[in-house]
Amino acid sequence: MKRSIVLLALLALLATSLFAAGQKDGGEIVIGANIYSFADNFMNGVMKPELERYAASKGARIEIVDSEGQQAKLNDQVDVFITRKVSVLAINLVDPASASAIIAKAKAAGIPLILFNKEPTERGVMASYDKVWYVGTNSAESGIIQGQMMVADWRANPSWDKNGDGVVQYVMLKGEPGHPDAEARTLESVKAFTDAGIKVEQLALEADPNWSTQHGNDKMAAWLTSAFASRIELVICNNDGMAFGAINALKAAKVKLPIYSVDALDQALTHIADGELNGTVLNDGVNQSRATLDLAINAAMGKANVVEGTQWTITTDGTKAVRVPYLPVTPKNYQEFRK
Ligand code: GAL
Ligand code: CA
Repeated sequence: MKRSIVLLALLALLATSLFAAGQKDGGEIVIGANIYSFADNFMNGVMKPELERYAASKGARIEIVDSEGQQAKLNDQVDVFITRKVSVLAINLVDPASASAIIAKAKAAGIPLILFNKEPTERGVMASYDKVWYVGTNSAESGIIQGQMMVADWRANPSWDKNGDGVVQYVMLKGEPGHPDAEARTLESVKAFTDAGIKVEQLALEADPNWSTQHGNDKMAAWLTSAFASRIELVICNNDGMAFGAINALKAAKVKLPIYSVDALDQALTHIADGELNGTVLNDGVNQSRATLDLAINAAMGKANVVEGTQWTITTDGTKAVRVPYLPVTPKNYQEFRK
């Protein structure tokens, strides 16, 4: 009797230590994950809950830590996950130019790595490890879709050209400098106008590493009291979070201007319903979360083909990426995106 209790206790101890170490033979896959900042509306509001829900539905354990916008903090968090022998890493870079350090750590430990949402900008870095993949979008696509919406609406609303000069006088809330999404959106949305033969004039452009509502509000409020305030004809926002702030500032100043963004958060759909936002672009965080975990789980199980048995395909252009498509969200179709 006594002996069997001791044996049971030993077995239980063994099981918990396997569990803690995240061993595959323990039956459970443990995913060490982070979000670059829990203060980010899209990452915290869309991706994090779906990562948690989907991992649970797959019987995997995920731990998601907050990197608080500090790459150094993320580097330390990755070290801790590696010491604890997680089965796989799912990492949202803080600095898109710092992937090589994380990849080197994962490679040295022999742990597979899925990078998601923020695509590495260092050339050729994905080729440095056979067990690293990227899950995100085609950044340019969001700017192209947003641009096409704006061009169509601009043409349909001649009164938007307030000074009648045929030129779009715009202000832009950019988001994080160096972030592939921010950079591509900034270029492509404006290029849609010039490609359509419509001239543009940038009155102001403001970057914000946090993509935040507070910043969007403060910047828009400042622009609305600037020397060029009355010349603004269009507000381009590279994400919903900043647009929410800009909408707030516009309302406070009792100014109505066309305004567009990207992400299609629930609050954005409400602003479209209320006629306060002219359009956004669905950044499909739900499917990006699912793809991240489908790849992570396959990689943790040691499958040679990480998209085996999934709906995803990996690009063959050297970026080793799964790219989830963007979709236009307008006053005509926004209802379809309501949950
Ligand atoms: C973008 C998203 C932004 C912000 C950023 C963080 O894809 O549109 O709202 O969340 O990622 O990396
Ligand atoms: Ca004009």
